[in-house]
Amino acid sequence: MLISVDAGRSYVKVVFQTKPGIFKTFLFPSWITKYYETDWDVLTGENDYVIEHEGEANYIGEVVEFVADGDSGRRMDEDKGSKNTLLFILAALYRAGVNQYEPVDLVTGVPLGRFNSDMEKVKEMLEGSHKVTMYTKHGKEMRTININRCAVTVEGAGAFFDQATEEETHVIDLGSRTVNCLTFRRKKFLAPASLTLPWGWDTLKEENRNYERVAETLHGELSAKWHTDARIIVVGGQAEQLTPAIREYFPYASTVDAPQFANARGYYKIGKVMFGY
Ligand SMILES: Nc1ncnc2c1ncn2[C@@H]1O[C@H](COP(=O)(O)OP(=O)(O)OP(=O)(O)O)[C@@H](O)[C@H]1O
Ligand SMILES: [Mg+2]
Repeated sequence: MLISVDAGRSYVKVVFQTKPGIFKTFLFPSWITKYYETDWDVLTGENDYVIEHEGEANYIGEVVEFVADGDSGRRMDEDKGSKNTLLFILAALYRAGVNQYEPVDLVTGVPLGRFNSDMEKVKEMLEGSHKVTMYTKHGKEMRTININRCAVTVEGAGAFFDQATEEETHVIDLGSRTVNCLTFRRKKFLAPASLTLPWGWDTLKEENRNYERVAETLHGELSAKWHTDARIIVVGGQAEQLTPAIREYFPYASTVDAPQFANARGYYKIGKVMFGY
């Protein structure tokens, strides 16, 4: 079974096929906090989970809102090689219905700026057999999740390969903690015109958190590298609102359908080619 997971720092996005040609996508918030016993049961909704892995239990996803103090559970590490990435991906595979009889080929991504440092680490951490115990409103379930092969690509590249074209294309992927800005020439990554900016929508100061200001800042960062009349696709959770502001500087910028899933969709397509599906 091929499945792609874009484990973003605000939402985990998942794409797979239930039947040939029938795609399923879902997302859940990238929230995690250590398990503790609450006075009254909080695992009451269909999406409320505790995940236990290697002897450690954590609330994961939507339920964290009801157990974490303030937004303490809502921060995800910069480092994608961390344990949290593994837990988010295992939770995603569990939610997709993966079980021990169905080994998984997985595609995921890391930001461009962390590719060299994190790629091997992430692949090594994910490939293999993982035993998890999930606690839900229905009780406790042990599951073994087998990840057969894992491909790690670059965030933003998914969005390009979702609808790859020969035409020179730039991607702006505004996330919660990073902005991935990539360039592809004849479907090949163009290094000098690509970069990861170390800020995202959720790390901006209040006074800068508006689309006009973000577009202006992006233009400042990119104008020396990208032509004004370049083809740009804008993706990520806020792409629809951001695109009109970007167009003030780059008139040929546009977004795509369901832009928050663009990377995950592209990862799936990359997996099809890489793993021969
Ligand atoms: N439905 C929504 N309504 C409003 N804002 C949203 C929605 N979904 C996501 N966002 C916001 O859009 C931003 C980008 O979301 P996205 O899912 O692309 O981020 P991410 O991939 O998790 O982050 P990163 O790429 O930095 O790891 C985040 O700040 C998020 O809070
Ligand atoms: Mg993202």
